This record gives sequence, C-alpha cells and structure tokens, in this order.
Amino acid sequence: MDEPLGEDRVKLAGYFAGKCSGRKKTTHVMRPTRTTAAASLWTKKQEKNMSSVREHYATHLGPIYIWMAGGFDAAVKRGAAEMETINVLPIANSVAVDLGSGFGMHAVPLANRGFSVLAIDTCFELLDELRRRRNTLPIETIEDDLLVFRKHLTTEAQIVLCMGDTITHLSDFESVLQLISEVSEVLMTGGRFIITFRDYSLALTGEQRFIPVRSDDRRILTCFLEYADSYVTVHDILHEFDASGWHLRVGSYRKLRLAPDWICTALDSSGFDVRREPGMAGMVRLVATRVR
Ligand SMILES: C[S@@+](CC[C@H](N)C(=O)[O-])C[C@H]1O[C@@H](n2cnc3c(N)ncnc32)[C@H](O)[C@@H]1O
Repeated sequence: MDEPLGEDRVKLAGYFAGKCSGRKKTTHVMRPTRTTAAASLWTKKQEKNMSSVREHYATHLGPIYIWMAGGFDAAVKRGAAEMETINVLPIANSVAVDLGSGFGMHAVPLANRGFSVLAIDTCFELLDELRRRRNTLPIETIEDDLLVFRKHLTTEAQIVLCMGDTITHLSDFESVLQLISEVSEVLMTGGRFIITFRDYSLALTGEQRFIPVRSDDRRILTCFLEYADSYVTVHDILHEFDASGWHLRVGSYRKLRLAPDWICTALDSSGFDVRREPGMAGMVRLVATRVR
C-alpha cells in the first residue's frame, strides 16, 4: 500500500489539529502545514498509482450510481427533504451552484424551489441523466472539474452546495482550502455554502471497514476502506449476476480524511459563520453563512 510521504505524515498530524468551533470565531489564518512542493509530489504519486476519481465514476460507479442511490425519484425526494430541513429559499432569480452534482438529487429540488442551478460534475453519464430528467427546470449542466467552477459563473451566487461526500474526493487539502476561499468570493453576503461529507478522521478497524452499500438479487455493492494517514482508499467491490453466473469487478480511489473541525476552522478563516449538524445517512452537515 502506497503511503503518503514519510516526512509529510508527521506534518499532517498538525494539519488535523484545527479548531472547530461551530459559531466560535478564530482570528488566525490557517495555513497548510505541507509544503506546496511536497503536496504536489504527493498528488503526482496519487495520480500515478490510483485510477482517478473521474475514471472511477466513468467506468465503475457512474453506470450504477442511480441504482446505488435507490433510484432517481427516491433520491430526489431525499434531496428535497434535506433542502427543506435547511430551509433553502431563493431571494429573487437567485443562482445556486451544485458542485459534484451527480444526477441532481439536490439540483432538481433547488430548481423546484425557484433557483437557477449550475450543476457541475466530471461524470458525463450522471450529468446526462440529469439532462434527461430536468424537463423545463432551469438547470445548466457543466462537465468540468468543480475546482474551476468560477469560470462558468457570471453572477454572484446565493447558495453553493458540495453534497454527498464530494468534497473528500478532492486530491489534497490545499484544494479544499482553495475551494472554500473561492466559494467565499462568489457568495453574496448572507449566502450559504452547504457541505455534507463523511467523517473519516477516526479510522474504522477490522470488520467495520467492510460496508454493505446496496444489494438485490442481481447486484451487490460492498465498500472496503483502507486507511492511510491523510486519505482512505475506497475499494468499491461490485458483484453482478448474468446468465453465466456472478462476476466480480473492483474499482478503487482515494478520499481525503477530512476532519470536521479542520473544515470548520478553514470556513471560519474565510469569513463564514458555521453551523455543524448531523446530515443524512450518517454524514456531517456544515451550513456556512458568509458573514464578511
Ligand atoms: C459521492 S457523489 C455525490 C453526488 C451528489 N452530490 C449527491 O449528493 O448525490 C460525488 C460526485 O462528485 C463528482 N466529482 C468528484 N470529484 C469531482 C471534481 N473534482 N469535479 C467535479 N465533480 C467531481 C463525481 O463525479 C460524483 O458525481
């Protein structure tokens, strides 16, 4: 198993020591403790050794993602319930940006609530599904890296979403900081950046690392998590049944072990007031309001 750079592993211990605060204010500017050079070397190693997230979704998860989510309608219903819980309402002709939108389980409810939605994702297949299902809703789909979302935005936004553990798909901690900073620059004052993600900061051990995701009589998806210091390798183990029997395919990619406290501190440093609460399906939800 390929580990992150040895020297960096020590530095990363401090990297997770950010203060979390919910609403508490901090005045210091948090800086990455990795050097840029080391981070870029780590990223290159990562690219070399792993199938990229884009590739993983294109070949492995994309084609079964809606099945995995329990079907389009059920997923959109859950997304709508989440938007209702957070009470996301447009001011007037407001723009919402859904980063890593997938097939639109939040983009569709946002558009139903009156937002014009920019749905950005690198997975063609999932965006195509959204295009087929959006009907006349004002949802623009963009196949691109979420880190360059600003080039597709011509006005300020009222809401930016990064839901369903998408933020952990970024390749390094610097990218997360960059994203937070750029979102704060496009949001109107009082606008909200809503993030849901899994807290991988505490490593699961032993059998806990095998997670049954979904199954029916023709398909079984199980996840196996392999922890390194700063990331977790997710192995998506897919069994599918056809006329010749069961077939196994495994695809793997990395997710960042983002600690909720660390993201809270980064948001706070970028001018957000952060509310932290339990999200759906065991995720952490951060509702960050731009206050300065
Ligand atoms: C776990 S899914 C979540 C999808 C959706 N937000 C939801 O809650 O159902 C992660 C999504 O992020 C997309 N994604 C991952 N990294 C990305 C990146 N750097 N830029 C754009 N999309 C990305 C994937 O293609 C996938 O659709």
